[in-house]
Amino acid sequence: MGASYCITANWDLIHQAVLLFGIEFDATTSKMINRTENITILIIDDDESMCDACVQTYVKSGYIVDIAGDGISGMQKVKDINPDLVLVDLKMPGISGMVVLEEIKKIDPEIVTIVITGYASIDSAIESMKKGAYDFLPKPFTPEELRLITKRALEKRRLTIESNRLLQEKNEMREGFISMVSHQLRTPLVAVQQYFEVILGGMAGEVNDEQREMLERSKIRIDQLIYLIKDWLNLSKIDANRIVKKLASVNITSIFTNIFNLMQTIAKEKNITLKMDIPENLPTISADKETLEQAFLNLVDNGIKYGNYGGSLFVGAKEKNGYIEVSISDNGIGIPEDKLPFIFEQFYQVEFKSDSTGLGLSIVKRIMDAHSATIKVTSKPEKGSTFTVLLPKSEEEK
Ligand SMILES: Nc1ncnc2c1ncn2[C@@H]1O[C@H](COP(=O)(O)OP(=O)(O)O)[C@@H](O)[C@H]1O
Ligand SMILES: [Mg+2]
Repeated sequence: MGASYCITANWDLIHQAVLLFGIEFDATTSKMINRTENITILIIDDDESMCDACVQTYVKSGYIVDIAGDGISGMQKVKDINPDLVLVDLKMPGISGMVVLEEIKKIDPEIVTIVITGYASIDSAIESMKKGAYDFLPKPFTPEELRLITKRALEKRRLTIESNRLLQEKNEMREGFISMVSHQLRTPLVAVQQYFEVILGGMAGEVNDEQREMLERSKIRIDQLIYLIKDWLNLSKIDANRIVKKLASVNITSIFTNIFNLMQTIAKEKNITLKMDIPENLPTISADKETLEQAFLNLVDNGIKYGNYGGSLFVGAKEKNGYIEVSISDNGIGIPEDKLPFIFEQFYQVEFKSDSTGLGLSIVKRIMDAHSATIKVTSKPEKGSTFTVLLPKSEEEK
């Protein structure tokens, strides 16, 4: 004998349950339906009957739905409930649907958006897709059309999330592998390097001239390998996605002040003067400071390394066509014209140098690419080289 229950439906509570837990009360069977997928959809539209119609279609399909009547409250809800999909009306009082689309992309680029509007035109469709909308649904539309476009959009979201996850996993594995290998290589090399120093310092007994020469050459090869591992590790660590996520307002002067402090001793050894002329009121740039500093450090390092004894290195910066142009000039050995196209390639060296790896400029190029910056070089043998970087200004300067 089975027990029987009397269930009285409290619609308010059920609505709350639908929103919060994806649980719906089915009146015909008197059973709670627990949604398996828990997909949340937010509708941002000032047209109440439109919202109602969409909510009904969505609830029937088993989605958790929430609504907002304007852009501002819509964006707040995006932050609060973190929906999977947002339906955005283009024409609303207050801020427009286009702005809402842009903001949603900034809050979470994985949220998929569909634009709905009564003012369907090719132009607004193209414009909204440019702002990151997945698709466009002109009013009026049938529940079936809404269901279909939603299903496709959610499938697109699922695939994006999956591929982002795989990409991240791949990057983590690659990074882990590279740092493990470089650590394994570096540790014994550093030990060997220390032995060389002990032997060459005469602490392990007398070393004759022939032995000394051989040991010194061997030590240089070991030093080279250690440089190579360091640069290779730096190169492989550059992750454009991470740089883009860390972009902030950065002051160019503070970057070069740090670099000059670091390089002062090396510059003095070659009697090279480091000069900087950056206007005080220069707008800030949009950068990941630590990484960009590494790129500029490589350029200053080259300027000193390939500079002549007693020469100078000059850093200038100015605003140009809405960008910030930074130039690093030396009056050193210069680069022959036919070699210029290759210098940003990995491992390329115009002339072999034992303390070089040919990786510095490829690191610079990658970092600049991640900052949406361009880099150019002009150079004349025996006269010197100028590397010019064009960087975007920070958001607050626009
Ligand atoms: N300021 C410079 N002056 C002259 N040659 C340069 C300069 N910067 C780079 N080069 C040339 O470009 C090559 C590649 O530079 P880079 O990638 O930094 O590697 P590395 O400095 O380790 O050799 C260098 O080997 C050098 O021949
Ligand atoms: Mg270099």
